Amino acid sequence: MLFPSLAKSLTLALLATNAVVSALPMASHDDDDNSSSLTTKSTKTKSHKTKSISTDDNSPSATSSGDDSDDGSDSDSTSTKSTKTKNNKATSTAAKASTAAAVATGSSVASSSSSSGSGVSGSVFGYASLNGGTTGGASGETVTATTLDELTSYCAQSGALTIYVSGSISSSGSSGYSVKVSSDKSIIGKSGASLTNVGLSLDGVSNVIIQNLSISKVIGTDAVRVQKSKNIWLDHLDVSSDQNHGKDYYDGLIDITHACDYITVSYVHFHDHEKTSLVGHSDSNGSEDTGHLTVTFAFNFWENLNSRGPSLRFGTGHIYNNYYDNMSDCINIRKGAKALVENNVFAGSSSKGLYSVDGTGSAQASGNDFGSASDSIDSTTLSMEYKYSLKDAGDVASYVQSNAGATL
Ligand SMILES: *[C@@H]1O[C@H](CO)[C@@H](O)[C@H](O)[C@H]1NC(C)=O
Ligand SMILES: *[C@@H]1O[C@H](CO)[C@@H](O)[C@H](O)[C@H]1NC(C)=O
Ligand SMILES: *[C@@H]1O[C@H](CO)[C@@H](O)[C@H](O)[C@H]1NC(C)=O
Ligand SMILES: *[C@@H]1O[C@H](CO)[C@@H](O)[C@H](O)[C@H]1NC(C)=O
Repeated sequence: MLFPSLAKSLTLALLATNAVVSALPMASHDDDDNSSSLTTKSTKTKSHKTKSISTDDNSPSATSSGDDSDDGSDSDSTSTKSTKTKNNKATSTAAKASTAAAVATGSSVASSSSSSGSGVSGSVFGYASLNGGTTGGASGETVTATTLDELTSYCAQSGALTIYVSGSISSSGSSGYSVKVSSDKSIIGKSGASLTNVGLSLDGVSNVIIQNLSISKVIGTDAVRVQKSKNIWLDHLDVSSDQNHGKDYYDGLIDITHACDYITVSYVHFHDHEKTSLVGHSDSNGSEDTGHLTVTFAFNFWENLNSRGPSLRFGTGHIYNNYYDNMSDCINIRKGAKALVENNVFAGSSSKGLYSVDGTGSAQASGNDFGSASDSIDSTTLSMEYKYSLKDAGDVASYVQSNAGATL
């Protein structure tokens, strides 16, 4: 535990370095979000398994670099470097042993009702259970942040720490405040906790769990931004904004870029937003991203959204038991990325269920209920190196709607 005076001076020092969180320049050449797609949905059915669907997306990616506005050009990305630990350099033997343990227990996927004693509910599964697993701040002390200053200070502290978030924390800035999170943290909401116009940024870190928290309306940046990071578990979050400001006013809800690996996004309620979840920021950085961007998306509720459910470039995705309701462009696998897409359900006006905007992505898809959404992607074969249990598509709507999101 920090002494109050130390905490205060640390907070002040951090504020000095963090107070200016610049809004990113908004490039306009976003690629998969042309609103014209909203007007074409009625003509698509899953029986039309042709590539023609991707051609009616007037994708500027065909005529531009295809970079997204959030292409990692942040100039503020160095200020947390000093807090990094080297824990991601697990020895290969330790990693293998833990991986075996994770695989052995990986089938215990359930709604998170048990507590591990670390403050985290449930057990990590999916990609974040590999590479030694993801324990967050379990081995450290526990603190509670009730203000933005405290949250900023605790998140930047080096070493393992469980950080409870209590109450409503917001920023009135004209662009969102981005709290930098260092390695080995668990950030967990307490009853009623919320972040408004305050996002969390994980850059070059490992072993972080963010659970049971509501994050909304973060202007100009992501609600949760994960870059150059490994072993990250984002679970039971409620992330949202609104669709009244155009697609670049907010950025992504959960964006995972720059060669991240071993990420699990589970039980997240994504809602009321434009560009939802970007995995792989740019068409032009295959050299960085190829062979990386390994992400599991499971049991998430995607509701009233435009695009990116997720958009996956270069990487390998496992997308199962998600429920999509009224999301225009759902799973977009591109730039040679592959995904295993199982037992997801597409409801409401969901339009493009599973597609590849550039025709180079592929998926092994089975057990999905596309409803009136399209499935137009090439098939591939893919299997996961961890165990997991699938829910039947028929159970997904009720299960996901009652279990996803923060329960605060
Ligand atoms: C998006 O679609 C609209 C309507 O079809 C079209 O007028 C516009 O040029 C397209 N935008 C881009 C960037 O391709
Ligand atoms: C979220 O936090 C609330 C309040 O502490 C708790 O009752 C609930 O079990 C937590 N849910 C999860 C999924 O951690
Ligand atoms: C591509 O990745 C490299 C290595 O991380 C980075 O230095 C460069 O800025 C990236 N380029 C783009 C366009 O994102
Ligand atoms: C579906 O989403 C659109 C915007 O994308 C919104 O206008 C509409 O109200 C939503 N429909 C329902 C039933 O929520």
